[in-house]
Amino acid sequence: MRTPFLAGNWKMHKTIPEALELVNALKGPLGEIKGVKKAVCPSFVALAPVAEALKGSDILLGAQNMYWEEEGAYTGEVSPLMLKGLCDLVIIGHSERRQYFGETDETVNKKIKAALAHGLDPIVCVGESLEQNRAGETESFVGSQVRAAFEGITAEQAKGIVVAYEPIWAIGTGIAATPEEANRIIGEVVRGTLAELYGDEIAQQMIIQYGGSIKPANVEALMSQPEIDGGLVGGASLKAGDFITLVEVTARVKGLA
Ligand code: PGA
Repeated sequence: MRTPFLAGNWKMHKTIPEALELVNALKGPLGEIKGVKKAVCPSFVALAPVAEALKGSDILLGAQNMYWEEEGAYTGEVSPLMLKGLCDLVIIGHSERRQYFGETDETVNKKIKAALAHGLDPIVCVGESLEQNRAGETESFVGSQVRAAFEGITAEQAKGIVVAYEPIWAIGTGIAATPEEANRIIGEVVRGTLAELYGDEIAQQMIIQYGGSIKPANVEALMSQPEIDGGLVGGASLKAGDFITLVEVTARVKGLA
């Protein structure tokens, strides 16, 4: 049985006081929902205060990005050593990082290896653009992103990596992929590629999230799909009530509550 996992990607939102307000509103209600892994991923500057606020809670803490070197003359970057001990996981290769900040399959792979080397659990994002989707290239593109991300990663390491399938055209647009299509791409392409790389037994254990306009209105349909093991949530993770609903519904439809 795969434990469903919902992570809130707060992106470039929330000042420190706002981040604390949100996490304090989430802590109690989310603590009561068992059987679902939950995480929040605030901005770098809010990580330390949010970590403090989360002490004693089962909500995991994640960063949204990091550089792969441990230290050095890399102005503005944050290293795995700085995150180690502060947070549990790190989002790597989000499409916004690929699109606006020049991240490539190669840098994504380096970051994954650096995260693993320092005991940070990566959430690795893949997903096709609207043009690729319309051109019928989703399967080949997403498959190649998965292969490139896992280049040189052992089967043992792969087990601890979460993949988030996020079609770029569904992110922040309000238009999610249909549950059936998200399920198909996750099952056939993402898990299918992982099975080619590591064998079916390991691929079946790996957590694969869907991301892109998950909200209270569509979460039940999405999480009812057997291949979708949770979600990476942007907009709806910024409101405590919405994120709590997403976790509650996931626990219920996955048969855990
Ligand atoms: P969204 O973002 O839920 O706002 O579409 C998802 C993401 O980018 O991870």
